[in-house]
This record gives sequence, C-alpha cells and structure tokens, in this order.
Amino acid sequence: MPPFIMAARIIDIASDRDAAIAQACARLGEGLPVAIPTETVYGLAADATNPAAVTRIYETKGRPRFNPLICHMSDLAMAERYARFDPISRRLAEAFWPGPLTLVLPLLPDSGIHALSTAGLDTVGVRVPKGFSAELIAAFDRPLAAPSANTSGKISPTSAQHVAADLGDKLTLILDGGQASVGVESTIIRVEGERVRLLRPGGVAAEDIEALLGCLLERQEGAAPAIEAPGMMASHYAPAAAVRLEATSAAGGEALIRFGGMPVSGFDEAVAVFDLSPSGNLQEAAANLFDMLKRADATGAASIAVASIPVHGLGEAINDRLLRAAAPREG
Ligand code: TXA
Ligand code: MG
Repeated sequence: MPPFIMAARIIDIASDRDAAIAQACARLGEGLPVAIPTETVYGLAADATNPAAVTRIYETKGRPRFNPLICHMSDLAMAERYARFDPISRRLAEAFWPGPLTLVLPLLPDSGIHALSTAGLDTVGVRVPKGFSAELIAAFDRPLAAPSANTSGKISPTSAQHVAADLGDKLTLILDGGQASVGVESTIIRVEGERVRLLRPGGVAAEDIEALLGCLLERQEGAAPAIEAPGMMASHYAPAAAVRLEATSAAGGEALIRFGGMPVSGFDEAVAVFDLSPSGNLQEAAANLFDMLKRADATGAASIAVASIPVHGLGEAINDRLLRAAAPREG
C-alpha cells in the first residue's frame, strides 16, 4: 500500500487574517505544530506548555532534544509572566521588541513552560516577534516554542514555499505571510551581571546593541558551547552542494553568489549568478541570503562559490550563516 501522504493546507494571511488566526489556534490547541511567518524566518510553532506538542516539533524537524527552543511571546508584559528580567535585558527588550532579538533569561518558577521546550535548562530564550505572529500569540495566549521551520541542519525557510517543499508532507497547516523581511534568525543575547554576551549574531546588528548599552558585547570564542547555542553547531544551513567562501573567481560549473555588483572573474562560466544586493545593502542581502542559497543549490552545481561579504552590521550574521553552510558536514 502506498504511504499516506499528508499535504499541509496553506492559508495566505493577507487574504484571510482572521481565518488564519482561528485555524492556527485550533491546531495549536490540539497540540499540533503550525508553520508561521515571522520577520526573521518561518517558525515551526507549538504550545510551549504542552509536552506532546513540543515533542512533535523535535520529531518533525529531526532535531536533537538537547537543543532548547526559543519561546515566543506577544509582548514584554507576557514575557514577564514567564521569565525574570534584569535591568539590562529589560532595556534591550524595550528598545528592540517587537523584533529580531532573543534574550536568554532565568525561567520563573512554575512558569508552565515545559522542560522539553528549554531542554531542561533553568533559563529560557524569549523573543517577541514583529507583526502577524505576535497577534497570533496574543490570540492563543500561551507562549509558542518555535525553531525555524526546516529539517534540522538544512537552510532556514524565508517563504511559505520553502516550508512546503521541505516539511509540507509532515504538517497540517502553513500560514503564508510572504517573504520574511529580515531573512536571518534573531540575535541571541545573554546578560550575566555586567557581562552582555552575544550567543548568536542575527537580525539586530550587534553594533546597534553596543550603541544602546555603551559597551562591547562579548563574542563567543571559536565554537559556541554546545548547550548554550546548539543552533551554532559547526555544520548548519547546509546545502547539498559544497560551499566555497571568499571566492574571487568562479570555476566552470559552479553556482556563484556575489554582493554589491562586485565583479568576480569567471562569472560567465558559472551555471547561475546571484547577487545578494546589487546596491551593496546588507539588510537586502540578509533578506535574500537563504533563498539564494537554496536557488544556487537547486541548480545542481556541485559547488557554490560565495564572494566576500562585509562583516559590519547584518554582515556579521550573514558571514556566520555562510561559515556554517560551508563547515565540514557531520554526516
Ligand atoms: O529568529 C529566530 O530566532 C527564529 C524564529 C522562528 O523566531 N527561531 C530560531 O529558533 O532560530 P532555533 O530553534 O532555530 O534557534 C534557537 C537557538 C538555538 O541555538 C538554541 O540553542 C538557542 O536559541 N537557545 C534557546 N534557548 C536557549 C537557552 N535557554 N539558553 C541558551 N540558548 C538557547
Ligand atoms: Mg534553525
């Protein structure tokens, strides 16, 4: 007998926002994960207080369970019902929420967030997303645990079509909010006393946080400690093709990703050429990054050559993701 293939229903939130929220709340209430648009990447969301629901996230993604999930809240007031804010974290929340910033905070006792969401840690990664997903959380009135809506280790999705292609046969509902505007995951910060640590560069530029606080962030040295940001495992965002960074030329048969219209020798030999931002805008480059990596991979080229990308602003997150895409595969 052929296997039963489930196909996810896709609802366009622009054409029916109320139906999207009602359908999503119904599925979430049943303990099913739902793919939702956020400004960073699409998330695979489930009720963070329901262990069966959170288990389904791990199963759907094939994600190791020692890797904690970010819990999404509708606003700062909701976040304060679950986590304890120190003054610096509160300042960051007030400045950057709603938006692409995750704060790692001590979990309040009896918060109701299940240990499967936090992988048993006494801290929780909290984020207030911008736009539709915050509205959905307010309607559901429970925190949503949501990693990126992709098979673990693969490139994160920035459109409903990306989610459908990867996980469409494992989900019942995908909400389509168009192309994600930021395009890279949230910046993860952990405040410990006077120290402010950058656990993952992301959609809020580290310089903007440093400017607000008037101090430098502590960067991770080398590979991040596994339990603190396991999303930072060496190989991640891996296309099928090999990825070659800092390319100054393209070899015949390679796909090429460049930036700012900069000339790359041999580009006419490439099977396909993408420019993350012809005008050299790093925000535009971040928004295009995962889609162009997927399209370059879809050419079937054995190797993707990527030109050098500036490291300031969102360039830090872009270079971080590219390094992981290029890292030796763990198999
Ligand atoms: O932009 C984003 O953050 C997206 C969208 C969907 O919101 N979500 C996302 O989730 O990127 P995920 O699961 O792919 O990444 C979660 C990262 C992991 O590296 C995890 O280790 C870290 O957050 N994390 C979560 N809780 C943590 C905690 N209590 N302590 C330290 N790191 C934590
Ligand atoms: Mg991810």
